[in-house]
Amino acid sequence: MGTVSNALLGPAANDTGAPELAALLPVPILVVGREGQITYVNPAAEQMFASSEGQLLKHTLADVAPFGSPLLELVRQVQTRGASVVEHDVDLSTPKTGERFADVTIAPAAEAGSVIVLLQERGLAQRLDRQLLHRGAARSVSGMSAVLAHEIKNPLAGIRGASQLLEEVVPESERGLTALIRDEADRIRALIDRMESFGSPAALAKEPINIHEVLARVRQVAETSFARGLRLTEIYDPSLPPVLGDRDHLIQVFMNIVKNAADACAPEAGEIALTTAFKPGVRLAAPGAAARHSLPLEVTVRDNGKGVPADLLPYIFDPFVTTKASGAGLGLALVAKIIGDHGGVVECESQPRRTVFRVLLPVAAKGEG
Ligand SMILES: Nc1ncnc2c1ncn2[C@@H]1O[C@H](COP(=O)(O)OP(=O)(O)OP(=O)(O)O)[C@@H](O)[C@H]1O
Ligand SMILES: [Mg+2]
Repeated sequence: MGTVSNALLGPAANDTGAPELAALLPVPILVVGREGQITYVNPAAEQMFASSEGQLLKHTLADVAPFGSPLLELVRQVQTRGASVVEHDVDLSTPKTGERFADVTIAPAAEAGSVIVLLQERGLAQRLDRQLLHRGAARSVSGMSAVLAHEIKNPLAGIRGASQLLEEVVPESERGLTALIRDEADRIRALIDRMESFGSPAALAKEPINIHEVLARVRQVAETSFARGLRLTEIYDPSLPPVLGDRDHLIQVFMNIVKNAADACAPEAGEIALTTAFKPGVRLAAPGAAARHSLPLEVTVRDNGKGVPADLLPYIFDPFVTTKASGAGLGLALVAKIIGDHGGVVECESQPRRTVFRVLLPVAAKGEG
């Protein structure tokens, strides 16, 4: 394996050291000979191609790469030109290995005609990231909000009208539900009016708000719709001072977070816990604000669902990042924007069976609002 040794460790390297080094690296590495035959694989490559070293060494690269893969052409280029190439996001999906994409580095090995192939697999989030770049996220957000606003307002007016008709015929005991439909329709309408200005700083109607009233409304809606059948628990600090905020926007924030929690939970064993607490020590500089200010109001939403995939976690507040078939990936983007407009911060930590969204908000100072 002298060629690998030379290429990985430099000319002075000892010949027997290289395979050990390559074997330790978590990056799939193959050496491909002049005729395309595979002459070396490290364990990471065995894993990636879902084949043993013994199997792979009997094959050529063309046998294991997807049909028509650019990988083969790249190897040929390096063999003829003798210079290395890097190609991003190469599709290596096969029926055996499933969907896989990797950044590929191919370099000439010391032995003439041989090349070293390094495959850096791309995570889901990185791929989404690239898609985002291509789509021009910012443009889509403003374009989309305009379309949404237009398309939602009409049916919404219909829903509101129908709820009023229902209100007259349902028994007294059910009036609460029709009122809920009407109030929620009004809230959506108000939000849509504002979402049309998603690109610009939201015009927040800030006043001192009891965050527990916000959470009570979220809970009421959740229990009658998307979180039906899940266990919702509350641990509140009843002495919490009011937050300086916009009620409808804050309802929207916690509605989105609780909806995501409900989506992640198993239907029978799902549990969502809401907590509030006063943490006077928390001082943070919110993005865009120069001075550190105090954010002592803490609201958390915890669920025991499947958790956020680790490679997605840094991106969940970006627009269009979603793992749901029917998701828009806009919920948390709006959450981040609204909390940012309040001067607060939102963060997420997640592992399977324990995902926590933590929102920190400023207190309404005396005389404000
Ligand atoms: N509590 C959670 N548990 C597990 N994954 C979560 C949780 N909250 C968010 N996520 C992940 O973050 C992604 C982004 O969430 P976001 O609310 O922005 O979009 P969405 O729910 O997919 O679609 P939308 O809210 O626009 O209908 C989700 O698709 C999901 O993969
Ligand atoms: Mg969502």
